[in-house]
Amino acid sequence: MPQSVTVRRLGPSDASAAVPALAEVLIDCVDGGASVSFMPPMTTDKAIRFWTLVAQGVERGERALLVAEDGEERIVGTVQLVLALPENQPHRADVAKLLVHRRARRLGIAQRLMEAVEGTAREEGRTLLVLDAVTDGDAARLYARVGWQRVGDIPNFALMPDGAYCSTTFFYKAIG
Ligand SMILES: CC(C)(COP(=O)(O)OP(=O)(O)OC[C@H]1O[C@@H](n2cnc3c(N)ncnc32)[C@H](O)[C@@H]1OP(=O)(O)O)[C@@H](O)C(=O)NCCC(=O)NCCS
Repeated sequence: MPQSVTVRRLGPSDASAAVPALAEVLIDCVDGGASVSFMPPMTTDKAIRFWTLVAQGVERGERALLVAEDGEERIVGTVQLVLALPENQPHRADVAKLLVHRRARRLGIAQRLMEAVEGTAREEGRTLLVLDAVTDGDAARLYARVGWQRVGDIPNFALMPDGAYCSTTFFYKAIG
């Protein structure tokens, strides 16, 4: 699978067309217990609304949307770069919603998405990237492995899908 996985940035019309497939990935992640903004029940409507707003953001140039597709062009993973930041931070971007479907995990797809989103940030002239993740979770381990600097933790920052509080760790990466 990893050799046949392709990572690409979607333009506005592809982003809009990808909404149902992206919704499927998001629902799978929340159903799998990931703390990624949403609480159960993670309905198709809620997921479609979220990705429709993301696609509109792509259309407006406010965010970049990347997807990983398997050999059958099915979306198995995604990540975003939030470009719309205050005018005093033109060199910065936020990385958000790194998601890989459970059927495609532990194959290096998230790492490839992170490498690709860094490339996108460079193309966009951004030199400082920021993100956050559940403290000591799978994603936090990945970010540390690919060179992100751990800033610190905020206890009880968010909820897990089961309602338990979780700590969040903030990271940054200077790519200039
Ligand atoms: C976190 C997440 C994105 C990681 O995705 P992934 O594609 O499985 O990540 P990778 O495959 O790059 O790395 C995961 C692990 O597989 C290992 N791995 C990578 N390629 C491998 C291979 N070919 N064979 C065996 N193991 C491999 C990595 O070393 C890593 O190991 P670790 O658990 O010891 O750190 C995924 O678990 C996910 O979507 N979780 C739910 C949503 C979420 O929490 N997102 C983060 C928001 S901040």
